[in-house]
Amino acid sequence: MPDSMREQKTLYVVVCAAGPASDVGILVGLAQERGWTVQVMATPAAVSFIDVEALEKQTGRPVRSQHRALGQPRSPKADAIIIAPATFNTINKLANGIADNYVLDVVNEAIGLGVPTVILPFVNSAYASRAPFKASVEKLRGEQVPVLIGSGAFIPHKIRSGPSTLDTFPWVASLDQAEEKIESFTTEQHGSHR
Ligand SMILES: Cc1cc2nc3c(=O)[nH]c(=O)nc-3n(C[C@H](O)[C@H](O)[C@H](O)COP(=O)(O)O)c2cc1C
Repeated sequence: MPDSMREQKTLYVVVCAAGPASDVGILVGLAQERGWTVQVMATPAAVSFIDVEALEKQTGRPVRSQHRALGQPRSPKADAIIIAPATFNTINKLANGIADNYVLDVVNEAIGLGVPTVILPFVNSAYASRAPFKASVEKLRGEQVPVLIGSGAFIPHKIRSGPSTLDTFPWVASLDQAEEKIESFTTEQHGSHR
């Protein structure tokens, strides 16, 4: 484990409404094995894709999908964020600064603060071929946000073949990338803790 990882750090795992969402516990477990405290956040659409109770048991923390009510405790500050699986919808919104749900609010702000953020998409080749999507990927990379799509990362699947690719979804690549990014991150900058 690198020096900067010695004290326990908080990873936000942001889940969107795409095929691998129900397996996000795999990423949570991998991160916990490497010493991270994990805070799961879900888009409103993703809530029905995941087992909220199981994830809350696994992390010991509430799954966040909306702004907290007055008096509810804040989430710990993020040292890094992984969006996985990231949908076509959320990638396009994030790239264009749209913040119309809680997790987009948090991640838009975190990117602005320089919090290491990594995006692992799960999109079919039709979505991936769209000009707006390609532009979104480039915009995010231009803000030093790795989007793990293409050779050596997530490869878009043919339409309607997503379920057969779930076993090879590269969860661990997103964690490796987040840890690489945190190595070069200055400690004064920290993420949202709303
Ligand atoms: C069963 C099901 C599977 C879906 N799979 C994907 C997917 O793999 N990738 C994707 O980008 N969108 C997928 N979608 C569409 C998204 O769920 C939809 O665009 C949604 O608005 C995304 O919301 P979010 O980005 O806020 O999570 C799927 C929808 C359903 C109902």
